Amino acid sequence: MAATDLERFSNEEKRNLSLGGHVGFDSLPDQLVSKSVTQGFSFNILCVGETGIGKSTLMNTLFNTTFETEEASHYESAVRLRPRTYDLQESNVHLKLTIVDAVGFGDQINKDESYRPIVEYIDTQFENYLQEELKIRRSLFNYHDTRIHVCLYFITPTGHSLKSLDLVTMKKLDSKVNIIPIIAKADTISKSELHKFKIKIMSELVSNGVQIYQFPTDDEAVAEINSVMNAHLPFAVVGSTEEVKVGNKLVRARQYPWGVVQVENESHCDFVKLREMLIRVNMEDLREQTHTRHYELYRRCKLEEMGFKDTDPDNQPFSLQETYETKRKEFLGELQRKEEEMRQMFVNKVKETEAELKEKERELHEKFEHLKRIHQEEKRKVEEKRKELEDEMNAFNRRKVAVETLQSQSLQATSQQPLKKDKDKKKAGWWRGFLSLLMMARKKRP
Ligand code: GTP
Ligand code: MG
Repeated sequence: MAATDLERFSNEEKRNLSLGGHVGFDSLPDQLVSKSVTQGFSFNILCVGETGIGKSTLMNTLFNTTFETEEASHYESAVRLRPRTYDLQESNVHLKLTIVDAVGFGDQINKDESYRPIVEYIDTQFENYLQEELKIRRSLFNYHDTRIHVCLYFITPTGHSLKSLDLVTMKKLDSKVNIIPIIAKADTISKSELHKFKIKIMSELVSNGVQIYQFPTDDEAVAEINSVMNAHLPFAVVGSTEEVKVGNKLVRARQYPWGVVQVENESHCDFVKLREMLIRVNMEDLREQTHTRHYELYRRCKLEEMGFKDTDPDNQPFSLQETYETKRKEFLGELQRKEEEMRQMFVNKVKETEAELKEKERELHEKFEHLKRIHQEEKRKVEEKRKELEDEMNAFNRRKVAVETLQSQSLQATSQQPLKKDKDKKKAGWWRGFLSLLMMARKKRP
């Protein structure tokens, strides 16, 4: 196509064509509905509020069923998140409902860190979803989405104002989840006090910059009801699973000695308003907001943290491929630098060890020489001693021979002189001779 044709084509007005007969694409919404119905829905509610504030009772009342309600103890050392998932069915619509309880909230003496486990839980669910999204073979179609779609924040009906714990927690959560504040056990507070309490709460939330969930007013079909309901926030609710006979009807209510508080009576409390807004009108918007606002923010921050960007430093579009290449180069450069550093470290270490070994060798050699000298000295002394002993032995042997010779001579002489007197004289002479010989031999000894 020539350039002029192209220009003409792009300048041409968008044309509307009328169909000659029924084609069938008007059934597209029905196809979507039937696909969604088959697939089922998931909805996750986080309940944050003090122990015993009425969280479980309200959940039971909202869904008109009895979930397991295990009472929490007041002695938890830290806040702990307890998720429970239920499969519910209404008409032919399946709902996988997860109720997450913040167990032990508000029970610790030091409440500085109470919000942290809640934030961590929400982030973990976002992270799980992100990991699934980043997989090569992802299966988001049947992935059980556990991201929190709404946080019902139960406010204690003090009639005064919000506690700092409430403000801090809501502030920490508002960028991560849709918060709907509700005044729990609203039957314990008078009508005029409740009115003032609601105004006080809203002004405190505004002055502390806490963003709560606003029912959407951009869809014409629900804009009116939603804007009316926004003005009723926070909803003051009463929960009860008990049924009381009022007139000739059985209704869910709380019975007191002075009267009956009907849960579903709009002049008694805002329970119906909450149920309408949460389940009937805005459930899909809550799911959508979770995905498009809160999860998107988490994903963006996470990817930026990992070094991914949409634009380069000159504000030019930067594709994922380019980011990957840049990161890879950076990584390889870093790897090379680290490798070089390690190599240098290794060489230095080897040199150090070598020097140490040489020093040790020198010391050992010196020691060996010293020992060798000592050994030679010892050997010389032993040799001298041996010589001395040998000389002594030779001298002794000589004396022995001399003595033996003398002995034999004296024996011969005795046999030639028979007289005993002479014999004695000779004997005395022999002894004298022997002694003088002995003296002479001793004198000769060195
Ligand atoms: P944990 O899970 O143990 O933290 O308690 P929870 O917040 O789930 O409270 P739960 O629903 O178990 O209710 C605690 C008590 O409060 C029960 O005796 C309920 O009957 C009572 N309760 C619940 N809702 C209301 C209410 O709206 N008004 C009044 N007056 N009492 C309520
Ligand atoms: Mg409970």
